Amino acid sequence: MSRSVIDVPDLSLEEISALMDTAEEIIARPDDFADACRRKKLATLFFEPSTRTRLSFEAAMYELGGQVLSVTGAGTSSAAKGESVADTARTVSCYADIIAMRHPREGAALVAARSATVPVINAGDGGHCHPTQTLADLLTIRREKGRLGNLTVGLCGDLKFGRTVHSLLNAMSRYEGLRFVLISPEELKVPSYVKSDALKKKQIPYTQTTSLEDAIGELDILYMTRVQKERFFNEEDYLRLRDSYILTPEKLKNAKKDLCIMHPLPRVNEISVAVDRDPRACYFKQVLNGKYMRMALILLLLGLTGKGDRA
Ligand code: NCD
Repeated sequence: MSRSVIDVPDLSLEEISALMDTAEEIIARPDDFADACRRKKLATLFFEPSTRTRLSFEAAMYELGGQVLSVTGAGTSSAAKGESVADTARTVSCYADIIAMRHPREGAALVAARSATVPVINAGDGGHCHPTQTLADLLTIRREKGRLGNLTVGLCGDLKFGRTVHSLLNAMSRYEGLRFVLISPEELKVPSYVKSDALKKKQIPYTQTTSLEDAIGELDILYMTRVQKERFFNEEDYLRLRDSYILTPEKLKNAKKDLCIMHPLPRVNEISVAVDRDPRACYFKQVLNGKYMRMALILLLLGLTGKGDRA
C-alpha cells in the first residue's frame, strides 16, 4: 500500500509546514517546477459534483508537467455496472501514478487507498473530510495572518455535514493558542465525534452559538460554509435552514479590521456578492492557494519533494 492522504492528520505538522514552504517556492518560481512530474499521470476519479477541486488537481498536475486521466460522475464509469471502489482503485493504479478521488460515501477514499497500489488523495468523502481543501485553507491563513496559532476562528453554517469544517477543525486543533466559535443552527452543529477528537481530547476552548452577529466582533477568521443540500434527508429541512446565515457588509461593521473571511466555495447565498469588494474577503485567494498546495502534495506523495530529486 502506497502512502495516501485520507485526512489531514495523515500528514505531520512538519510535513504540512514543508508543503506550505514548497507552495511558496512554486508561487515564487513556477518555472522551476514545470517539469517536475514529467511522464507521471494523475487520475481524477470524481463520483460527486466538483468544479474547483477536480480542476485544481488537474491544473496542478499540468503545471508540474504531468498528465491527467479523468473520470467524472459515477454514471459514466464502471461504478454504474456495480464495480466496487476497491476494484476501481486497483484498476486505475495500473494506469496512473497517483489518484485523487471524490465519492459520496464516507470512508470510500480509505477503501480505495487500501487496494490501490499508488497513492490516493481524498478529494472529499461524503460528509466526512476534505484534507486538500484544508491545506488550501491553512496556506491562506498563514499568508493572510502570518501564523497558524493564537487565533480566534469562527466556523459558520452547516457544521454537521460540512466536511471542510471537520478537516479544518482536525488540522487547526494541532496549533497553539486557538479558540473556536462554532456558529450554526441547532440542527447543524459539529458532530460529537469531531468535537471529541479535535477539541475535547486536546482541551481546546470553544463556544457554540446560533448568532453570527454576537460572535463576529471577536473573530480573527470567519469561515463561512454552504448548507449541504445533497446530504439532507428531506427538502423541507434544507429549505428551512439554507439561509440561516448571510454575511453582508452591514454585518461586517462590527468585525475586526483584519478579519480574514473564508469560504471553501461554492457559495450559494451565504456571502452577499457585495462582500467580495471588501479587502478582508479571502475566498478567491483560497482557490488559488488550493492549486499550489495540491502541487506540493503531489510532489510529496510521488517522492519528488526537492528540486535536487528531479535533476
Ligand atoms: C466543498 C466540498 O466539496 O466539500 N467544496 C470544495 O471542494 N471547495 C464545500 C462545499 O461543497 O460546500
